[in-house]
Amino acid sequence: MKYLNKNLQSRTERKLKELNKLRPLPFSAVKKLQEQFQIEMTYNSNAIEGNSLTLKETFLVINEGITIKGKPLKDHLEAKNHQEALEYLYDLVEKGKKQTISEYFLRNLHKLIMQETDKEWAGKYRNSNVIIVGADHIPPDAIDIPNEMEKLRKWMEQNKRKLHIIELAALIHHKLVNIHPFFDGNGRTARLVMNLLLMQEGYPLAIVLKNDRKKYYRFLNQADKGNLIPFVNFIAQSLEHSLDIYLKSLTPFSQKRETFLSLSEISKQTPYSSKYLNLLARQGKLEAHKQGRNWLTTKEAVERYIKDRKRNRKINSN
Ligand SMILES: Nc1ncnc2c1ncn2[C@@H]1O[C@H](COP(=O)(O)OP(=O)(O)OP(=O)(O)O)[C@@H](O)[C@H]1O
Ligand SMILES: [Mg+2]
Repeated sequence: MKYLNKNLQSRTERKLKELNKLRPLPFSAVKKLQEQFQIEMTYNSNAIEGNSLTLKETFLVINEGITIKGKPLKDHLEAKNHQEALEYLYDLVEKGKKQTISEYFLRNLHKLIMQETDKEWAGKYRNSNVIIVGADHIPPDAIDIPNEMEKLRKWMEQNKRKLHIIELAALIHHKLVNIHPFFDGNGRTARLVMNLLLMQEGYPLAIVLKNDRKKYYRFLNQADKGNLIPFVNFIAQSLEHSLDIYLKSLTPFSQKRETFLSLSEISKQTPYSSKYLNLLARQGKLEAHKQGRNWLTTKEAVERYIKDRKRNRKINSN
């Protein structure tokens, strides 16, 4: 651990643990949160580079397929393509296999982001030099990009076990925009790769807000000069915020409704012995899941079972 503030580290780790304790997360609530975060990220990530769609308009374009009068076609396509890239990452995470961040993968991701707005250069490295508006740093010559990308790959290989995942994710983001391998879409690609790494560890999306653009650029500037601490902690903070939102909306919901307890605990609150509950659980008759060697269920799940049984009896006797 070299860059991440100790307090931020322990807080984000504790919050991730809290989130993991709630697993399996209530499906529909998580789906809703994910959708909300996807829209927020698409809106912010595109707005940072000048896309004119508002949050509401981004929602309408993505979820309702609506075209916003007076807004450029390009802005619509950017929203759509960014959303598609995010969905691709969610799919990768769901598959559970760790994705190697290879050059091939990065170019593919860039291709998804730019596919409809810059067909010619989507997925391709730039072939001439660029500057980053608002930055002191001058990215490497176009001719050096393959070499620089290879160095980045080696760096990842050497550091993936040495650094905290938040550090690794933030530093890869910085290195990628520092190289600036593409003509356009470098920031969006970097923010997505960073989030893929975080999501693979169970974290929600860390969203760089449009309103934080100035800070974001300032910290990247400092990172170019070798001071990586402010940027790493800036990313950690936005991640903590996302964790807070997840915990706030999932914790009371799951606790209020259902508390998973061991069968012996539940048997005290219901007419059944824990042995019988165990049988019902094993037979799949009772909603329950295994944690280690023990079955867990909720009082409400047993009540539902009783109700269903009564109803079935009625149907059978009619
Ligand atoms: N000082 C800096 N050093 C390195 N990278 C920087 C610096 N300042 C800004 N950047 C990065 O450059 C990105 C802009 O590059 P580019 O236009 O290729 O990306 P984009 O995805 O099209 O735009 P944006 O990232 O603004 O949405 C910024 O988002 C930021 O990530
Ligand atoms: Mg741009």
